[in-house]
Amino acid sequence: MPFQLAKDVFGRSIVLFGHALRPLTPEQERLNTPDWMQARPLEIRKSLERVRRLPSGGWYVVDASYRIGERPTFYWIDGKEYVAWRSGGTVHMGPNTCPHMGAPLSAGRVRDGKLVCPWHGLALDGGRHGRWEPATVHDDGVLVWIRPGPEEEGVPKPILAPRPANGLSGVLRMMARCDPDDVIANRLDPWHGAWFHPHSFARLKVLSVTEELLTVRVAFRVGGPMCVEVDCTFHCPEPRTIVMTIIDGEGVGSVVETHATSVVPGWSAVVEATIATSERTPFRWLLPGAPLLRPVIEARMKRLWAEDLAYAERTRYLRGAGSPEPFVPTDWTRPPGNPTPR
Ligand code: FES
Ligand SMILES: [Fe+2]
Repeated sequence: MPFQLAKDVFGRSIVLFGHALRPLTPEQERLNTPDWMQARPLEIRKSLERVRRLPSGGWYVVDASYRIGERPTFYWIDGKEYVAWRSGGTVHMGPNTCPHMGAPLSAGRVRDGKLVCPWHGLALDGGRHGRWEPATVHDDGVLVWIRPGPEEEGVPKPILAPRPANGLSGVLRMMARCDPDDVIANRLDPWHGAWFHPHSFARLKVLSVTEELLTVRVAFRVGGPMCVEVDCTFHCPEPRTIVMTIIDGEGVGSVVETHATSVVPGWSAVVEATIATSERTPFRWLLPGAPLLRPVIEARMKRLWAEDLAYAERTRYLRGAGSPEPFVPTDWTRPPGNPTPR
């Protein structure tokens, strides 16, 4: 497919370029039912119910691995306060409340690998100290996960979908006034893609829907009318994650993992990791500059998610679950009533 003229979902001209895609089957060619008729709320709900029953091992995504450094960082996870810090390359997490008199540990500092409490200087090395017990943490190199509860049988580690070995990655973490299910449900509705995000997707056709896999042909806008069309799948490896994987066209094997973590009732964190790969030679030249390219990838992801969060928040609002007002922190980096965690 050198260059091909086509129309976007609004009838405007676009130019497709990049690897040729496999031809559509006659049934897929005939699939011209309007998107609003294909996107059936009951079916999306049913998929969500199935996803909800998948095992998770009790793991929750916390944040990008690169974002957890020596400075203690505060997180709400499933209604509890945690502090995270890194020492000697290892991420530690535990309750944010000091076992001595309850100071917010995220307001402390790390010295010699130990987290020092801001009130009276108790130093925690990441191991148990009295009532203070560290949480189980898993750093998969891109994301950090926490398991607040005991190990679930057969799931000692987070359930991950395959990722490319060499990729450019970016991780976005955004807060939304919705439940984790609303985030997953948004992604189980790919039919909204080209209508709701015309700046990113020029056209989108859902090619097949099975219990476990949605397959989509989507034209990504590269710039103006220039688009790259790829085939990709969406699947949920566990109940709080949905993964888009490119299976044909440019960047085969690239993934976008969307994780939804409940923080406090009525609020969720969306942690999305994009790991892009390509077999094209110029892509290999970009790999050494991966940290520099990260903000570019993340800026693009942010635009899309600002819209998808509005979608997810509205879904929750329409369920009537948004009232009375849930607890609304104004600054997610600090626990309410506590000093700035620096
Ligand atoms: S409250 Fe932490 S050392 Fe006293
Ligand atoms: Fe979307």
